[in-house]
Amino acid sequence: MSLPRILVLHGPNLNLLGQREPQIYGKTTLADINQSLLALAAELQVEVVDFQSNHEGALIDRLHAARLDGTRYIVINPAAYTHTSVALRDAIAATDLPFIEVHLSNIYRREAFRHHSYFSDLAVAVISGCGAHGYALALRHVASELGNRKN
Ligand code: DQA
Repeated sequence: MSLPRILVLHGPNLNLLGQREPQIYGKTTLADINQSLLALAAELQVEVVDFQSNHEGALIDRLHAARLDGTRYIVINPAAYTHTSVALRDAIAATDLPFIEVHLSNIYRREAFRHHSYFSDLAVAVISGCGAHGYALALRHVASELGNRKN
């Protein structure tokens, strides 16, 4: 039997994690985050597929693909697009899939322009300020939700 597939989507500049403003985003690299999610996925008996892009259209295209490729749940850090992108919001809404929004930093402790998210009112949950650990928290919640639903 195939494992439930979870798409982990990383938005712009997250490829620079570990080097980029480490006082805000920490020293963990994106490769480290993806690696530890794969290990956790094996433990939780789910499949994780990760994708990062600096381009809005590429992220939208990946969400369109998720409608058809068996994805059951999405974990997304839209990064700066959180605060700007109606197009990415519409794309995630079009998947009709449940998702968790993750931010490494606590966006509510930062500049006012980061306080609004185009995703939070559609999200099952928002995890903001737990650093790289936030992704693991999200994945654990997704796995328990999928386990509870059994469909
Ligand atoms: C971020 C917060 C955003 O405001 C910012 O633009 C990012 C990363 C976070 O993970 O804390 O690029 O989503």
